[in-house]
Amino acid sequence: MQVKPIEWRDTMIRVLDQTRLPSEVIFLDVADYVEMAAAIREMRIRGAPAIGVAAAYGLALGAQAIEARTKEEFLVKLGTVSRELASTRPTAVNLFWALERMNRAAGEGTAISEIKAALVEEAKRIERENEEADRQIGRLGAELIEYGFTILTHCNAGALATAGYGTALGVIKAAHEQGKQVRVIACETRPLLQGARLTAWELIEEQIPLTLITDSMAGHFMSRGKIDCVIVGADRIARNGDVVNKIGTYSVAVLARENSVPFYVAAPTSTIDLSVKSGAEIPIEERSPEEVTWIRGTRIAPEGVKVANPAFDVTPHRYISAIITEKGVVREPYGEGLKGLF
Ligand code: MRU
Repeated sequence: MQVKPIEWRDTMIRVLDQTRLPSEVIFLDVADYVEMAAAIREMRIRGAPAIGVAAAYGLALGAQAIEARTKEEFLVKLGTVSRELASTRPTAVNLFWALERMNRAAGEGTAISEIKAALVEEAKRIERENEEADRQIGRLGAELIEYGFTILTHCNAGALATAGYGTALGVIKAAHEQGKQVRVIACETRPLLQGARLTAWELIEEQIPLTLITDSMAGHFMSRGKIDCVIVGADRIARNGDVVNKIGTYSVAVLARENSVPFYVAAPTSTIDLSVKSGAEIPIEERSPEEVTWIRGTRIAPEGVKVANPAFDVTPHRYISAIITEKGVVREPYGEGLKGLF
């Protein structure tokens, strides 16, 4: 089964509402770019590469509704659409990467009708290339996985998160398809439980053996020798190799180092941001306190409690054994290796 979290339908975009998984499989019909921006902000569609695809289709949809007499007027209006989509989530660089690519495509056309058609084609191309990158990441990453490995993953970096085959889960799926008899330990990933809700759902659909644990159990299993490697995705990779990913990834990386467990990051080159020197420069999204004080409609902390809710953290490159991209596997020194991919 290949999950399709987003689908272009000419007059609207069909989005699988990931906030309702795993209890309900519900699709939303997104009618305009404002609705698409809301869907990204509310994490109905989430995961760095999938956010990029969603923004690209959102811009294409917004473009179809623009009425303008000149190309200049069209581009001004397209700028409004683009800014709205760019304001949804600050950390995953794929969002800005996809919008930049779309705006460049818009700038190249001449007639407005031609630009509108070109934007749809560009969004489709982004989705297609994304999927191809995932497959290649899977192939390259699977070479690092030995027969019978137990792999720990954090958050969800599967087809739901990429609108393709998955990055971290793509590597696991490729190893599974090669008959390597892998097993997965998935961290639940508080506060929004992407591991418990989404990774568990995807792996059960794929029939890949899985054990779900709470985030605080990772060290226990590593110290008992139960984990052969860790693979996670990324939301943004700085040019020195620092990786920003879902909150809790840094703790897992430090535990992996302490226990001599290889820690791999799987991400497409569209997640690499050579304009930032290190992880410290990457904006970390702060989300609403209710994500921490409530779980699925139930308040679990007293009213008035002070809450912090950073959605991501920085894993310094020294904890990372390798970064698996579609263009190759990079190891220290990351500065040279990452630059060499472009
Ligand atoms: O807040 P989310 O659910 O969008 O965060 C997702 C992650 O952190 C993923 O691990 C990352 O985007 C990689 S997805 C291939």
